[in-house]
Amino acid sequence: MFKDVFRYYKSRNPPPELTKVLDFDNVDTLESKIKRVTIKDIHDLKNYGLQPAKTWEAYELIEHPGLIFIKNPFSSIGQRYWTVRCLQDYTKRPNKTNLDSFKLVPEGKEWWDVCQNNHDKLLLNKLRWVTLGYHHDWDTKIYSEDNKGEFPKDLSELSRHVAQALDFNFNAEAAIVNFYHMDSTLSGHTDHSEQNLEAPLLSFSFGQTAIFLLGGKTKEDAPTAVFIRSGDIVVMSQDSRLCYHGVPKILQMDSRFWDCFNQNNLVNKEFREVVHICKEETLWKPFADYLNSSRINVNVRQVLKRGQKRLCSESEDKK
Ligand code: OGA
Ligand code: MN
Repeated sequence: MFKDVFRYYKSRNPPPELTKVLDFDNVDTLESKIKRVTIKDIHDLKNYGLQPAKTWEAYELIEHPGLIFIKNPFSSIGQRYWTVRCLQDYTKRPNKTNLDSFKLVPEGKEWWDVCQNNHDKLLLNKLRWVTLGYHHDWDTKIYSEDNKGEFPKDLSELSRHVAQALDFNFNAEAAIVNFYHMDSTLSGHTDHSEQNLEAPLLSFSFGQTAIFLLGGKTKEDAPTAVFIRSGDIVVMSQDSRLCYHGVPKILQMDSRFWDCFNQNNLVNKEFREVVHICKEETLWKPFADYLNSSRINVNVRQVLKRGQKRLCSESEDKK
């Protein structure tokens, strides 16, 4: 079932009909399918590129309890900030990327700089993922204390604030940053490698629009399709935490989220240079060019249980 719907939305010829895709830009059409989620008022959001919490619109899907959709709570400079961090900074060593094994980026140089200096579009489009914190092992899907890097403080704080606004306690310990181009897809899967499966999974998206499919606990359950636009946050919690999901299609929509640059109010003392790039159109331009035909998804997880200090091996776990 999941596969059939995935194939339907992925198809180029014929292209899919989009009328059944839930569209949070038109909440009036979703009345029977969603309910509003209350947001706790929290402060200091500006530092993370977020609008005041009282202006956020958050909804839960009635047919998928625990799936929470926060409609773009970022300011435009906030969207720029996270885009620059993902492309220019999180891609740096010792964080892991899919490019590591190809040795395409010379020792001592950084992927983003090499792409920009050499106008290397091919190399730019080869980046598919970066892992942060406990590195996701794509083969074994097992996290380990021996395969772990530092988790970026700003992303950890962003995640904590968003979770707190929804009344969750959350500690960011692992993330996958996915880079999609117009022909990329992410097939149906569940995320179950974390020892803590009660903590929600937070997903931040920037750039082009995705069709996101959320299914049930098995591949036989029919999925719901939802548009995820730039800035939208999806939280998979409770009954939705272990549900099948995937991205069958990226749609090229528009750039209004990061182009309409009306707020200049991001203060982040630790990352002044990043903020400077966001405010200078000529410095921002290469990032805008990237976003015009790509999508960035930052998928943040808590790995450990509350109070747990480190990962224990499976044998220890059974004691
Ligand atoms: C993931 C994931 C969804 C997305 O990285 O595990 O499900 O919206 N990403 O890109
Ligand atoms: Mn996932």
